[in-house]
Amino acid sequence: MDTQQAIRETPEPVTPGDRPPRLGRVPFVDNTAAMLRDPLGFYDRAGAHEADMVGYSVAGTTGCFVCHPDLVEQVLVTDADVYEKGQLLQDTLGQFIGEGLFLLEGEEWQQQRTALQPAFYRERIAAYGDTMTEFADRAAAGWSDGQRIDVLPHMQSLTLNILGKTLLDVDIETTADALEPLLDALRTRLDPRSLSAYLPLWVPTATNRAVTNSLAEFQSTLDDVIAARQREDEHAREARDDVLSLLLSLDDETMDRERLGHQLLTFLVAGHDTTALTLTYAWFLLANNPKRQQRLHDELDATLGERQPTPEDLFELPYLDAVLNEVLRLYPPAFTVFRQPTEPVTLGGYELSTDAQLTLPQWLVHRDDRWYDAPDAFRPERWDDDLEASLPDYAYYPFGGGPRHCIGMRFARMEAKLALATIAQQYAVEAVTEPPLSLAMQITLSPTAPVEVRLRER
Ligand code: HEM
Repeated sequence: MDTQQAIRETPEPVTPGDRPPRLGRVPFVDNTAAMLRDPLGFYDRAGAHEADMVGYSVAGTTGCFVCHPDLVEQVLVTDADVYEKGQLLQDTLGQFIGEGLFLLEGEEWQQQRTALQPAFYRERIAAYGDTMTEFADRAAAGWSDGQRIDVLPHMQSLTLNILGKTLLDVDIETTADALEPLLDALRTRLDPRSLSAYLPLWVPTATNRAVTNSLAEFQSTLDDVIAARQREDEHAREARDDVLSLLLSLDDETMDRERLGHQLLTFLVAGHDTTALTLTYAWFLLANNPKRQQRLHDELDATLGERQPTPEDLFELPYLDAVLNEVLRLYPPAFTVFRQPTEPVTLGGYELSTDAQLTLPQWLVHRDDRWYDAPDAFRPERWDDDLEASLPDYAYYPFGGGPRHCIGMRFARMEAKLALATIAQQYAVEAVTEPPLSLAMQITLSPTAPVEVRLRER
């Protein structure tokens, strides 16, 4: 596909000094109220604008949606060195994970990324396969024929168990007890519809108090985890190769207690909810598309029979791969990527200053009918004929791109596929919750009500 041909025409050619078309009919009117009422609708209205760049202004910030794959690529890859994560993310997440890999910038980020990369090498991740399958099997063992389940909490405990065992090797029962209240409080605080999202943490709202208390609880659990590691003899410590031990082995000066807390919270937040949501949306879509579910079962039966899947088997399961691609296209848990230029830049012909908050929304680009036929339909088979090779590079980017792409991508894809395969070998799912899903844009794209399915033993 010739993407240059497909760049949408702006009403007039862009000339120096022009601004992108703006959301809202009345010029210079702030979009805060619309964004607060319905963030998802706000994104959809930007999409309906049918322009590749759409300006907006929320809570005093100058924002711009960037909706063309070539422009997304320019920001994330080609010109990556003149963009940072930006003030919006620093303001909302900085006090919790500002010292973690997700938000660090420059030299410090590079140093941490290089140090942590070995935990995500292909061979290392393949070694986690058995743990992933085992925990998925254990989750299914607790279910029975005809049972109706609220999917997300089951998937959250599954992905937390897997993450705890494989990447952190911590006592996850204790960590989960401290982590879940913190995550719940953070989800509420960072929901753009909640008042707390716009207030500093010291303002004593009920949500802020809950965040502060649960953060203290989490920190103290973390202290126990670190102390236990430090009590281990050198031999035991050297034998470990999990993310926590890589962090602890870094120079003390670069890895103080606060930074360690931010790093661990980064991995727990980034690595557990995202994959749990992916699996939840997968069960929802399969339950509501029985023929596609049947095709998945047929592939699993033909390739695996009753045998548990291994990482090598995943190469022989193309439809499973297509199902995952399609789930992440329709419901990308990371629904947008934020960036802010560090110097004046030109993007899509427009001159942008350093206060521009750029929103690169997977939620819109993944459903753009210039790249996808029937973009709202769940059709895993669209990936059969190597669709990915014919798409513009950044028409599909559930894991971001460029130097800041998701470090856990390979881990997450393997985990999701092994969990889907293991559970689908044992159960079919029938729809209880039907489309459309009611969704909220919190830290991740999350359902606002239980997503339920009924289990049928196979
Ligand atoms: C389906 C699951 C996942 C999705 C959709 C996802 C998505 C993303 C995206 C879009 C980014 C880039 C953000 C940006 O450029 O601003 C990112 C970064 C990141 N992800 Fe993931 N992620 C997933 C799973 C995981 C897992 C399993 C882990 C770790 C165990 C993880 C850890 C991280 C970290 C640490 C970063 C920051 C990397 C850096 O800036 O160097 N993610 N993720």
